[in-house]
Amino acid sequence: MQSEVILDAKKVSKDYKNFSLVDVDVTLRKGQFLGLIGPNGAGKTTLLLSILKLIPSKNQKDIVWTKNKKPYLYQNIGVQLQDNLYNLSWSVKDAINISTKFNTDWDYVNKILYNLEIENIAKKIRQFSKGQRQKIDVLIALSNKPKVLILDEVTSNLDPIAKQKVIQYLKFLNGQHELSVIITSHFLDEIEMLCDTFFFIKKGKKLFEKNKTEYRMHGAGFLTKEFTKLYKDDKTVIGEDGRADFEFK
Ligand SMILES: Nc1ncnc2c1ncn2[C@@H]1O[C@H](COP(=O)(O)OP(=O)(O)OP(=O)(O)O)[C@@H](O)[C@H]1O
Ligand SMILES: [Mg+2]
Repeated sequence: MQSEVILDAKKVSKDYKNFSLVDVDVTLRKGQFLGLIGPNGAGKTTLLLSILKLIPSKNQKDIVWTKNKKPYLYQNIGVQLQDNLYNLSWSVKDAINISTKFNTDWDYVNKILYNLEIENIAKKIRQFSKGQRQKIDVLIALSNKPKVLILDEVTSNLDPIAKQKVIQYLKFLNGQHELSVIITSHFLDEIEMLCDTFFFIKKGKKLFEKNKTEYRMHGAGFLTKEFTKLYKDDKTVIGEDGRADFEFK
């Protein structure tokens, strides 16, 4: 039996001056781990901002976060975006308290601090390094005990060990607590490992969605091969190993 639908968004569309997101349907179910994949400028962040209603978009009324448990949208969703959602002059502690509306469960937050090895939360966010801030982003997104997590390139500045830690922690939360996640990343090995569903977009349009089981006959690295096949241009040559070569002039 399929699990409960958390998000049902129909024909999400957004027009910028030189870019349009066109009629993208997104469904997210409880416990689903959805990887949003596409090249730079494909519209991934625009889609996330639209479904979160952080930017106005066309057909906004057809973006429905579970009907029976209102208000679902901001209470139950943890968000990490490419651009900071909070003020960098806040301390980490301030940001947590604001995110939880000063109703922080510190036992729970301390576990995340321990698991992600974040120290000294009295310090201002701007005093942390870029990578440390990304771990803080995850902490803040989780501090409200969300049922859904929206992550936009959450590991891009992390060192390899920190990255593994964040990935494994997300996998743990998804497995143990049926957290539903939508994540974008250009690290396709990470998406391959974490996600059960792959959602491909190109130039503002949805190409298709595939379940991981559909790739079960393929070896590791199948997403990089799929990506190269879907998004290569005329100047790119694909080798037998699926690697892309580009001819420079
Ligand atoms: N505020 C804005 N005003 C005008 N155009 C915008 C704005 N934000 C994004 N765009 C345009 O929309 C397109 C999609 O951008 P978006 O940030 O959604 O891409 P993306 O898939 O998230 O890319 P990346 O992988 O680089 O993060 C780009 O062509 C970008 O120039
Ligand atoms: Mg983006």
